[in-house]
Amino acid sequence: MLRFDRNGRCLVRRAGVSVAAAIAIALGCRGVSIDDVAPVLKPAPGADVTAERLAAGRSIYISETKCAGCHNPKQVHAHTADEWSTVILPRMAKKAKLSSDEYENVLAYVTAGSRNIPLQRTSP
Ligand code: HEC
Repeated sequence: MLRFDRNGRCLVRRAGVSVAAAIAIALGCRGVSIDDVAPVLKPAPGADVTAERLAAGRSIYISETKCAGCHNPKQVHAHTADEWSTVILPRMAKKAKLSSDEYENVLAYVTAGSRNIPLQRTSP
């Protein structure tokens, strides 16, 4: 499943590997796990968002047919909520051709995962 080219870089054979596993393996090559860059999050206390919406947003965020189609999922916590909502997501949503529902779900997820607030991971 995993092999290395002449330069020691990781190569991932896609056949028979699920999308999530392929991303995990690709990230694993760099010593980063999918849960580090795109953790499963629960709503912050008092936040006006549901766990279902966060889960829907995350699955788009890590999907190879959506946000992870051109690049591996980026570290969600690397950007502020403001950067996400005003600069990054409007541009990337066009690239990923998100519907307005998908946009709202991803926006909820990246806001919850942004640098502004402590991450509310579902597991420690
Ligand atoms: C069609 C290809 C494509 C898709 C689909 C795509 N991206 Fe990107 N993304 C890029 C490219 C190319 C860059 C780097 C150059 C740039 O910033 O435009 C990038 C950069 C980024 C960055 C870094 C921005 C920065 O300023 O540091 C983030 C974060 C990001 N993408 C998130 C997303 C999210 C979230 C989605 C889904 C809504 C997404 N991308 C979908 C091509 C894509």
